[in-house]
Amino acid sequence: MQASRIAGVGMYVPSNIFTNNDLTKYMDTSDEWIQERTGIMERRYADRTRETTTTMGVEAAKIAIERAGITPQDVDFIVFATLSPDYYFPGCGVLLQRAMKMKEIGALDVRNQCSGFVYALSVADQFIKTGMYKNILVVGAEKHSFGLDFSTRGRNISVIFGDGAGAVVLQPATKQGQGILSTHLHSDGDSAEILAMYNPGTHANYWVQNNVASFDEAEMGEMFMSHAMIDEAQNFPNMDGPAVFKKAIVKFPEVIMEALAANNLQTTDINLLIPHQANLRIAQFVQQKLKLTDEQVYNNIQYYGNTTAASVPIALCEAWEKGKIKEGDIVCLAAFGSGFTWASALIRW
Ligand code: UT7
Repeated sequence: MQASRIAGVGMYVPSNIFTNNDLTKYMDTSDEWIQERTGIMERRYADRTRETTTTMGVEAAKIAIERAGITPQDVDFIVFATLSPDYYFPGCGVLLQRAMKMKEIGALDVRNQCSGFVYALSVADQFIKTGMYKNILVVGAEKHSFGLDFSTRGRNISVIFGDGAGAVVLQPATKQGQGILSTHLHSDGDSAEILAMYNPGTHANYWVQNNVASFDEAEMGEMFMSHAMIDEAQNFPNMDGPAVFKKAIVKFPEVIMEALAANNLQTTDINLLIPHQANLRIAQFVQQKLKLTDEQVYNNIQYYGNTTAASVPIALCEAWEKGKIKEGDIVCLAAFGSGFTWASALIRW
């Protein structure tokens, strides 16, 4: 089977920098708390009306496509990962296809939150391996700033998220032993509600819990999203942070070790680990646990916050631009987040 390689990487972050001190204007928090608990100093927020998840994805894609030496018309499949799409439906994949004037190619949206990009990369890898496609665009993008609770009520989650996009172009590998060596995907739905946005949705838990299960008291059109739900912040993400943290520090090392074992490699063989930028403390814990040096791990959460599906491709692109990834290097991508879902990809660059 034909291995796939990353032929081009791109990233886009909005120019608007939002510091921890800027957040204190909206909620009871502090620069000290945020830096100590997360490592984040600042994040980027998209222009409220001119930038969307798709437009940021397009900017990142343009760079990845150019670096891969192709044009948008050469792309034969799109995989777009996000949890903050422009519309509830249709997904961002088709919006990107339209914006970039691509051919009538397939466009697939992946909804795997923080591990979305690694899942998307794995899907694209399978299509290259089977020979079905030759140039696949994989995008991870988020516009979190539009959907966060900026009151003190939402401070445990709002301070960590930022906006941005990253993209790669996957092509068949040209050299023996080069490219994506393996991908490893996992999930545990038992904890689905621990990190979730409950509404709008079709689960009806809200109505059951408020004893209006028969919907007699609800207007038909209110089932999906009601004024009461908005008053109760159901339209914002919810997270039990410590529970996510505890699971993340177990599953990150596990899925990285799984990738290494599958390829008969050791932690010392990793040239660069790019963990999903969830929290600097999680990344540091993983680094310690796997006894990796500072040079072996790339973090940039300090400047962008947690950009969910965009964090891995943004960090990958930035590390590549800084010359930290050279041909032949072993690069490990790993992510964990809502679902729970977690995943890794091991690459020989
Ligand atoms: O990428 C998706 C996956 N997500 C993650 O991986 C996130 C994993 N979890 C985390 O990163 C951490 O749990 C957080 C950064 C979200 C929170 O840090 P923590 O150390 O776990 O804090 P906590 O939630 O246990 O809260 C400790 C205290 C609470 O106050 P009391 O009850 O001790 O008085 C919170 O109300 O900190 C308070 N707090 C804040 N204080 C100031 C929560 N958020 C804030 C805030 N500013 N922004």
